[in-house]
Amino acid sequence: MGNVNIINHPLVKHKITLMRDEKTGTREFRILVEEVAMLMGYEAMRDLPTEDVEVKTPITTRKLPMLCGKKLAIVPILRAGLGMVSGLLALVPSAKVGHIGLYRDEVTHEPHEYYCKLPDRINERLVIVCDPMLATGGSAIQAVDFLKDKGCKNIKFMCIIAAPEGLDALRTAHPDIDIYVGNLDEKLNEDAYIVPGLGDAGDRIFGTK
Ligand code: PRP
Ligand code: URA
Repeated sequence: MGNVNIINHPLVKHKITLMRDEKTGTREFRILVEEVAMLMGYEAMRDLPTEDVEVKTPITTRKLPMLCGKKLAIVPILRAGLGMVSGLLALVPSAKVGHIGLYRDEVTHEPHEYYCKLPDRINERLVIVCDPMLATGGSAIQAVDFLKDKGCKNIKFMCIIAAPEGLDALRTAHPDIDIYVGNLDEKLNEDAYIVPGLGDAGDRIFGTK
C-alpha cells in the first residue's frame, strides 16, 4: 500500500502562495515551480537506496554511503510537468527523463495522449511522475496505467496542488504508489479547475492562454 505525503513545510507553503497570486508573472512562476519541485523531491527521494563505497579523504579512508545504481527516471506529464523537471534534476543530475504527453479535453475533462518517450529498461527503474496539478486525477491515472503496462513496479507521483477528488481517484486506481502533494486544496469547480488553485499551470509556466 502506498502512502500519501502532504508536504508540511513553511518554505513550500510560502512558495505555493506566491504561485497562486494572479499577479505572479511567467518568469517568477516558472522559478517557483522549479523550487517547489526541488523541495518536494527532497522528500520523495528520502528512501533512495545507498551503498557504501570506499573514499579516501584528506585524512583517512572509509566506506561511505553513495546513491546506488542509476535506475531513477523522472517522467513529467506534458506540458506542465516539464516545469518541475529542472528542480528534480538539480537533486539527481544523472536521472533519465521520460515524457508522457496528455492534454485534458476542455469539455469532457478526459485526458488524451499525444506523446510518449521513455528511457530504456523503464520497468527496472524507480519512476517519479510529476505534474503540478492533480484535478480530477484522469491524467495522473492514465500516466500511471501506461507505466504499469510497460512493466513499472516502483512508481511515485508528485504534484504541487491536489484536489481531494483527484487524490481519491488516484488512490483508488493505484493504491500501491506513493503520492507527494505540496498542498491539498478545497475542491474542484464546475470546470474541473482546482479551488483556490492557481489557474492553468501549463499556461502560467509557458506564458500561453
Ligand atoms: C493539466 C495539468 C494536469 C491535468 C490535471 O494539464 O497539468 O496534467 O491538467 O487535470 P486532471 O487531474 O483533471 O487530469 P492540461 O491538460 O491542461 O495540459 P497542459 O499541461 O498542456 O496545459
Ligand atoms: N489543470 C490545471 O492546470 N489547473 C487546474 O486547476 C486543473 C487542471
